Amino acid sequence: MPNLGISNVGKIFESDGNSTRVLDKLNLSVETGSIVAIEGASGSGKSTLLNLIATIDTPSTGKISYGDKILSQFSTREKEKFRAQNLGFIFQHYCLLPDFSVLENVMMPLLICKHSWSFALEKSRVLLDLVGLDNRKSHFPSQISGGEMARVGVARALVGEKDLVLADEPTGNLDKSNSEKLADLLWSLQQKLNFTLIIVTHDRDFAARAPQRYQLSSGNLAQ
Ligand SMILES: Nc1ncnc2c1ncn2[C@@H]1O[C@H](COP(=O)(O)OP(=O)(O)O)[C@@H](O)[C@H]1O
Ligand SMILES: [Mg+2]
Repeated sequence: MPNLGISNVGKIFESDGNSTRVLDKLNLSVETGSIVAIEGASGSGKSTLLNLIATIDTPSTGKISYGDKILSQFSTREKEKFRAQNLGFIFQHYCLLPDFSVLENVMMPLLICKHSWSFALEKSRVLLDLVGLDNRKSHFPSQISGGEMARVGVARALVGEKDLVLADEPTGNLDKSNSEKLADLLWSLQQKLNFTLIIVTHDRDFAARAPQRYQLSSGNLAQ
C-alpha cells in the first residue's frame, strides 16, 4: 500500500472577486498503515484539506501523491476509480440513506460500483459484525442511536477493503462516552485491517489518542 505525500499544497477559493487563501505551502507525509489526527479550529481548512486528499477538489498549487500516482493530476475517470477502489470517507453527519436498512446502507458503495448483490451482502455482513452491529442489520437509520449511526458510517467507509480512510469530525455529533468508543473501534479496526487513517477534528481528547497529531492553523501544519 502506498504512502500519501502532500507537498507545497496551497488552496485559494475565488468567489465574487474575493479570494480566500485557506491552505498555504502545506506539507505532510503519511506512512501506510498509520493513524494521523489533524486538529484545527472551525474554518481553519480541515475539510478543505480532506477534500483535496479525497480528490473531490483540486489544489491551487503543489501536489498530492499516493505511492507513485499524483492524485492532483488525475483525470475525472481516474479520480472516480481511486475513490471507488482505495478511499473510504467517514462523515460527521453520517450521511446514511433514511429509506434503506443499516445493511443496505453498508452495501451501497459496492452496489454503486456494480458488484453483485450477493458479494455486497457478504462483505457488508462481515463489516457490520466487526463494528458490533450484527443485530441492527434490518433497522432503519431512524431506529438506531447516534453512536450506532456513527458505526454504520464506519462500516460503510471500510466495505470493499479500502486502504485510505478519511474522517471529517467523526465525533462531531457524539457525547464523550460514544466518542471514546468510536476511537476504540477505529483503532482496533485499523489494527485488524491495516488501512491508513486520517482524521480531521476539533475534538482535542479524540485527537490526543492518535499516535501522530498535527495542528492546522494559518493554512499550515505544526506538530
Ligand atoms: N467552496 C468554497 N468557496 C469559498 N470558500 C470556501 C469554500 N469552501 C471552504 N471555504 C472557506 O475556506 C475556509 C475553510 O473552510 P473548511 O475547510 O470548511 O474549514 P473547517 O473544516 O476547518 O471548518 C472557510 O473560511 C470557508 O469559508
Ligand atoms: Mg469542516
